[in-house]
Amino acid sequence: MASNVSTTMKKYQARLEKRLPEVFPKKLSEDRTVVASLYSLLAGGKRIRPVLMYMFADMLSIDLDVIDDFAVAIEMIHTYSLIHDDLPCMDDDTLRRGKPTCHVANGESFALLAGDALLNRAYEIIFGAVKKHSYTVNAAWFLADCAGINGMIGGQSIDLDSEGKKIDTNKLCELHEKKTGALINAACQIPYLIYAAQSGEDKKLYNLIKSFSEGTGLGFQIKDDLLDVQADESVLGKSIGKDQRDEKSTFVTVFGESNAQKMLDDTYNDVFRALDGLKTMGYDVQDLRLLSQLLQNRIQ
Ligand code: IPE
Ligand code: IPE
Ligand code: MG
Ligand code: MG
Ligand code: MG
Repeated sequence: MASNVSTTMKKYQARLEKRLPEVFPKKLSEDRTVVASLYSLLAGGKRIRPVLMYMFADMLSIDLDVIDDFAVAIEMIHTYSLIHDDLPCMDDDTLRRGKPTCHVANGESFALLAGDALLNRAYEIIFGAVKKHSYTVNAAWFLADCAGINGMIGGQSIDLDSEGKKIDTNKLCELHEKKTGALINAACQIPYLIYAAQSGEDKKLYNLIKSFSEGTGLGFQIKDDLLDVQADESVLGKSIGKDQRDEKSTFVTVFGESNAQKMLDDTYNDVFRALDGLKTMGYDVQDLRLLSQLLQNRIQ
């Protein structure tokens, strides 16, 4: 039973990192879209979504070999979302994961194509997973739903449409739950969907995982909003102060820094309550608890 979250995280991160350089065919290694894709995919990043997925898979005793394709695919989808998010037509950013953004280093056309290629290849990998293990089909569908207009893309649409506008609290929560929460929901709930397909549904278990993942998703973006005004750029690896510059609607720009911090702490109370519930059911949540503390207090 591991109790040191950084050791556990490193183990899962290493499992993922081993597969990432091989996601495109070897014979295309010089293709400029592939070069631009790997530039961003292999630039580091916290790998939080795959780590959460592996942690829930371990909690539910799911074979990690079945999870690997989903872990790789979700990191590819997340990386594509960052490449497109940084483009001049969106947030117009120049620094990401401690390096010049994909379009700064590779040109705008290849950055656009890199995002497209990562997204498409992610689904090629997922179709391969479903071909191997047909019981993962619900998990595959859920990933697509969370990444699309009901989820991340829908959130990005609200984000851009809200620039320079006043939006109410419900809309702001919807924005955050979709643009960031949805992929985090996918990361946490995909192991449950695979578990349920093999062992049958467990409503109580599902509700607790859902409560954890929704709190973690909302909390992750509230913290991202706070870091935009609090972080050290060289530690964060991306530029700061840009939400104000772009007149974005964030928890900080709408409610102010100290209210945003309070809302983050309230959200994490729900997260820890969900973990208590899982523990009462007999699950080992020690690593998830430590990871949640780390995410609540992260500086990057
Ligand atoms: C940044 O995500 C964008 C958001 C959804 C807030 P991460 O903070 O997970 O970025 P990386 O993957 O570590 O670079
Ligand atoms: C982006 O949110 C979330 C994505 C879906 C990529 P932000 O625009 O706040 O993310 P950062 O701050 O650029 O990483
Ligand atoms: Mg953005
Ligand atoms: Mg951005
Ligand atoms: Mg941000």
